[in-house]
Amino acid sequence: MADKRPDDMQRIETPALAKAFIEEQIAALKAQIGDKKVLLALSGGVDSSVVAALLVKAVGKQLVCVHVNHGLLRKGEPEQVIRVFRDGLGAELVYVDATDRFLDKLAGVSDPEKKRKIIGKEFIDVFAEEAAKLDGVKFLAQGTIYPDILESGPVKSHHNVGGLPPEMDFELVEPIKFLFKDEVRVVGRELGLPANMVDRQPFPGPGLGVRCPGAITRERLEAVRESDAILREEFDAAGLAGKVWQYFTVVPDFKSTGVKDGLRSFDWPVVIRAVNTRDAMSATIEEIPYPVLRKIVSRITSEVPGVNRVLYDLTPKPTGTIEYE
Ligand code: XMP
Repeated sequence: MADKRPDDMQRIETPALAKAFIEEQIAALKAQIGDKKVLLALSGGVDSSVVAALLVKAVGKQLVCVHVNHGLLRKGEPEQVIRVFRDGLGAELVYVDATDRFLDKLAGVSDPEKKRKIIGKEFIDVFAEEAAKLDGVKFLAQGTIYPDILESGPVKSHHNVGGLPPEMDFELVEPIKFLFKDEVRVVGRELGLPANMVDRQPFPGPGLGVRCPGAITRERLEAVRESDAILREEFDAAGLAGKVWQYFTVVPDFKSTGVKDGLRSFDWPVVIRAVNTRDAMSATIEEIPYPVLRKIVSRITSEVPGVNRVLYDLTPKPTGTIEYE
C-alpha cells in the first residue's frame, strides 16, 4: 500500500541517518518534479518548514512557497518565515497579509465551530487565489506526516490544503509522509533550520483565534498576541521552553475592575495555560515555579494594553480541553 511506512525503514534518530534521508529525498524529488513548478503552503510549522527546505535544496526556484498570514499568527512568526526562507535559503516566497480579510469575516462570530470553518475556508480561498496567479504549477507539496495518515483525524485536517477547487488537480508531493514528528525534527535540525522552528510547540491551525474566545476583536487579539510573546520569552529565560509540551495565553471576553497608576481600570484578564501530554488526549498541568509566575504577571500587567489581571489555569484534561474553544 502506497501509504504504509516500509517495514524495513530505519527510525531517523541521528544526524547521519537524517543526512542520508535528506540526500535520498532530494534525488527522489528531482526525479518526480523534473523541470516543473511545485507549490507549497508554508505555515512556518515544523512540517511545512522541513518540506520547504527539502524542496529548495532539490528544485530551487521551481518551488513557490505561499505564506498566508491570517492575522492569527503569533508575534514574529511571519517575519521569521520570510527571514528563514526568502532571505536565508533564497526560496521563492509569496507572502500574503490577509489579516483584514480574515478579521472582517470573523467579526461578530462567536460560535467556535463557525470561527474554525470561516478560518479554514478563507485559508483555502486565499491560497487558491494565489495559486491561480501562477503559471505552470504541476505539483502541490504538503507537510503530511505519518500520524496524519494513521489517524487522519480532525486535528490536522485544516492545515493541509485539502479542499482546493477541483480544477486545481495538482499532483501531490509528500516527502515526509512516513516520518514521525521526532524524526521530522531530527531532519529539520540537519537541514539547518532554526532551533525555535524545529522544536516548536504545537500550534493550532486556527491560531490565536481559539485563544480569543467568542467574537474576536482586534484589541483583544493583540492582548493575546502580546501576552503570548511575553509568556514565551519568560519560558525561554527560565529554561522551560523545551520542557513543557504546550503553553500559551487566553484572553476571555469579560472585564473586571482593577487599579492602575492610581486610577480605576476596567480591563481583561489574561489566562496562562501550560500543559504536558503524550498524545493530547489527556493532559496534566505544568507546575510553573512561583518566581517565574510573578515575573510573568508583572510583565503582562504592565506591558499589555487593556489587561489588569493574570489568572493561572490549573485544570487538567479532562475536564478542560487544552485549548479554550
Ligand atoms: P484540545 O483543545 O482538543 O487540543 O485539547 C488538543 C491539541 O490539538 C490542538 N488543536 C488544534 N490543532 N487545528 C489544529 O491544527 C485545530 O482546530 C485545533 N484545535 C486544537 C491543540 O493546540 C492541542 O495541541
